[in-house]
Amino acid sequence: MKQVAIYPGSFDPPTKGHLDLVERGSKLFRHLIVAILCNPDKDPLFSLAERRQMMEKLTRGFANVRVDTFGGLLVDYARHVGAHAVLRGIRAISDYEYELQMALMNRKLEPSLETVFLTAAEDYSYISSRIVKDIARLGGQVDEMVPPLVVERLQIKLNGHGGSPRVTKPRTTAKSRRR
Ligand code: PNS
Repeated sequence: MKQVAIYPGSFDPPTKGHLDLVERGSKLFRHLIVAILCNPDKDPLFSLAERRQMMEKLTRGFANVRVDTFGGLLVDYARHVGAHAVLRGIRAISDYEYELQMALMNRKLEPSLETVFLTAAEDYSYISSRIVKDIARLGGQVDEMVPPLVVERLQIKLNGHGGSPRVTKPRTTAKSRRR
């Protein structure tokens, strides 16, 4: 049995789809490390520390799951923590090409590191962090896609306060009303 697996990602922000994968992955591996990428090239909505804190709170119920951050190559991080497997979710065929390329590249760099794919639960297969951010920025409801903690953090991040069911109020202008 593979002892340690990494579930890497940007998690900007964590979604219900991510948490579903954490829960299922925690049953497959003895230890699961949710590894949040520190990528200076990307301009995330949430800082690395904010994403880490959210993930830590959201995964508190899983005794064999811990949260960490990493930079550089995933294979180097895997060696550093003694991981033998990488866990990734596939939502749709459109994910597959990118995921396959990453898995093959990681195997080239470290042949002993296996990538394990889980299909996303149907209810979450349309969710991505990018879509959540787009909807939240435009004032849509995201509570079916992300846990309450993340709804609250999005409200604070985008509106400067929590508590309201909407993230932002859509602005109507004379022009937009004519459309
Ligand atoms: O949530 P994401 O953004 O789809 O996660 C992508 C991630 C973090 C898994 C991927 O970008 C990654 O592993 N980056 C680390 C750099 C690396 O090892 N690159 C070579 C493999 S493609």
